[in-house]
Amino acid sequence: MHNAAFAHLGIDATYEAWDVAPERLAEALERLRQDDMLGANVTVPHKTAVMDGLDRLTDRAQAVGAVNLIVRDGNELVGDNQDTEGFLQALEVEGVTPAGKRVALLGAGGAARAIGWALVHAGCRELRIWNRTAARAEELASSLRVDARDTIIVSASQLDDLRDSDLWIQTTTLGMRKGGQDPDTSPVPGDGWRSLLGDAIDPVAVDIVYRPLRTPFLRSATSAGMQTINGSGMLLYQGAAAFEAWTGKTAPVDVMRKALHDALEDES
Ligand code: ATR
Repeated sequence: MHNAAFAHLGIDATYEAWDVAPERLAEALERLRQDDMLGANVTVPHKTAVMDGLDRLTDRAQAVGAVNLIVRDGNELVGDNQDTEGFLQALEVEGVTPAGKRVALLGAGGAARAIGWALVHAGCRELRIWNRTAARAEELASSLRVDARDTIIVSASQLDDLRDSDLWIQTTTLGMRKGGQDPDTSPVPGDGWRSLLGDAIDPVAVDIVYRPLRTPFLRSATSAGMQTINGSGMLLYQGAAAFEAWTGKTAPVDVMRKALHDALEDES
């Protein structure tokens, strides 16, 4: 989507995928400091770890505690977070409003951190955070409580503690395609929805995974009669914001959306 946008606006730049092992993160950041670099996106598993290697953080990245966007400003690398806005816009275009909702957040990594922050600022009624490693869920809950205003934030030690949630958000890597294979996994067992939904109102399932677009989590949610939102919207809107931060130009969102959908559908 970025290369389509560069071509559309006649900008002489390319977007490349770098596969960076955790122990080579510092080396990747050094490459980003070169004069011909505009910046980068940061994804799993580096969104939190990358912060230590940057020169500055925006207020938002600082508040969220995770970075998904780096902009090179002269010799400095500046960390920002556009996952928050990208996530909220993806919900908005599907007519879903977090305000007043009971929300189940599955996962407690860097993406969950940005989404949790966005949900609290959007005024959700209750945020319940579940994670495979329970201590990380509690750590995220306590850091979000710091400026939570009216939202009740709890960490859930088991899936059953998420019962009756209206909005279910899957931020773990489960269901993500690896090495060309679709792992048939989801944090919610396929037959688990019936008991978990309880008295949920118009329940919605959101997955931030976009490879594949139809994850096991979303497939089982569809079977349970829920509205579903896949990961392509959040990817698109954080991408448009990143494009604007790197180039200073308005992102051609329709061009980016088409390129993104063509690429993801090719893979499905
Ligand atoms: P990022 O910062 O980019 O979001 P991350 O911090 O590695 O990446 O987060 C990945 C998330 O996927 C975490 O919630 C992780 O759970 P743990 O905190 O227990 O590691 C979750 N995750 C990864 N593999 C998982 C698995 N096999 N089962 C359940 N959750 C998993």
